Amino acid sequence: MTANNSNTISETQSTKPNPTSGQGQQMWGGRFSEATDSFVAAFTASVGFDQRFAKHDIQGSVAHATMLGRCGILSKDEVDTIIDGLKQVQQEIDAGEFNWSIALEDVHMNVESRLTDIIGTVGKKLHTGRSRNDQVATDIRLWLREEVDNVVELLVKLQSGLLNLAEQHTDTIMPGFTHLQTAQPVSFGHHVMAWFEMLNRDTDRLIDARRRINQMPLGSAALAGTTFPIDRTITADLLGFEGICQNSLDAVSDRDFAIEFTSAASILMMHLSRMSEEIILWMSAQFGFVQIPDRFCTGSSIMPQKKNPDVPELVRGKAARVFGQLITLLTLMKNQPLAYNKDNQEDKEPLFDCVDTLTGSLIAFVDMLPNIIPNKENMRAATMKGYATATDLADYLVRRGVPFRDAHEVVGNAVALGIKQGVDLSELQFEQLQQFSEAIGDDVFEFLTLEGSLAARDHLGGTAPNQVLLAVKRGRERLAKFNIDVN
Ligand code: ARG
Repeated sequence: MTANNSNTISETQSTKPNPTSGQGQQMWGGRFSEATDSFVAAFTASVGFDQRFAKHDIQGSVAHATMLGRCGILSKDEVDTIIDGLKQVQQEIDAGEFNWSIALEDVHMNVESRLTDIIGTVGKKLHTGRSRNDQVATDIRLWLREEVDNVVELLVKLQSGLLNLAEQHTDTIMPGFTHLQTAQPVSFGHHVMAWFEMLNRDTDRLIDARRRINQMPLGSAALAGTTFPIDRTITADLLGFEGICQNSLDAVSDRDFAIEFTSAASILMMHLSRMSEEIILWMSAQFGFVQIPDRFCTGSSIMPQKKNPDVPELVRGKAARVFGQLITLLTLMKNQPLAYNKDNQEDKEPLFDCVDTLTGSLIAFVDMLPNIIPNKENMRAATMKGYATATDLADYLVRRGVPFRDAHEVVGNAVALGIKQGVDLSELQFEQLQQFSEAIGDDVFEFLTLEGSLAARDHLGGTAPNQVLLAVKRGRERLAKFNIDVN
């Protein structure tokens, strides 16, 4: 995912203005009378990180040159020469033979300078009618749109794995919690489908953000547009953009799309951290609800018995990084006047880190989450402990005409007796239960079993096993629309 490291970065190229131009002089050096300080050159350079989207920079340049040709701004021969040269630059980068130069500041000028080395003066015509300001904004969008597609693909794979897990466990019973106290019995499959729902919203958010990422700034030039008779619809079509940024000032300075992506990524990481937290709790000896395969865990250097849930812990921690990048980007843009400001060069590293952290976490989850192994006996035993069917008893009384508040009181008394005797509601004698309310009949025990409790919640969104199965079916229909090979 990172640019090929075998390409070298050289600091040795001269930074002195050279009246004969060519390698060694800043491409904008014409009006300068003094060389850039070597510290300043290194400090202001972005090539160390923005070479990551060299491919997209070249893709944008090929489209730009093609458009210049079609609009009669460059000749056909010139365009052909430029495109051939750009292909060679791409080959050198792919082969790890490209010499990245800090003196040439960024990916854009490195590529253009090498192009001119290869094809001569005609290479200098490529920048006609464009600026690095619209170029960089275009590159980031081309790159990010691909990364979003990759993230969505990982999400769909993860979700598909969750559907399989949920389907196997529609009638595996565990305690459902509120306040982390046993509340009501739920199907483990239902819990897994709750995770699935969270990820549905994440996928929708990313797809929605992609529409605004996929708008083309190119043609805005430095800030005001260009004096050449360009046709932006040609470049937009060639680059597969859904639309064209409608105001040149906005186009070169807008980074909303990066903030939106990072914000969707933050919500997604927040979800992964919640799932991680549950797995970490459930893996503890105190819960004993699940195991995850050993490949996601590590041992302790001192305590031989330990199997630590490192992967979920790390993902929980990495959520913090992504939130941090969101705040970085928001703060970066705050108070920036129109149009482009050099501040914007600081958008790349947070965005790269956000994409890498998110992608890495998802790759781990795609393999880990669907492979958690529930311990059915422990889950069931835990559900039996917390008077999880108390609400079922209250509902039973209500169906027999007892007002809900009175029913609540009756069940409270029954629970108090259970606690005193150290037994569950279903383990109390019929006569013991009946002393609290005459409305209690001998059919009550059907409603106090865990299976009865689950089966009774038989409506859309409820935990009844057949409802969980329907939810899995709906989930499969949804994922099929993405046309992604999930294996
Ligand atoms: N490396 C710059 C960036 O990432 C490219 C745009 C530079 N534009 C300028 N006017 N200095 O933002």
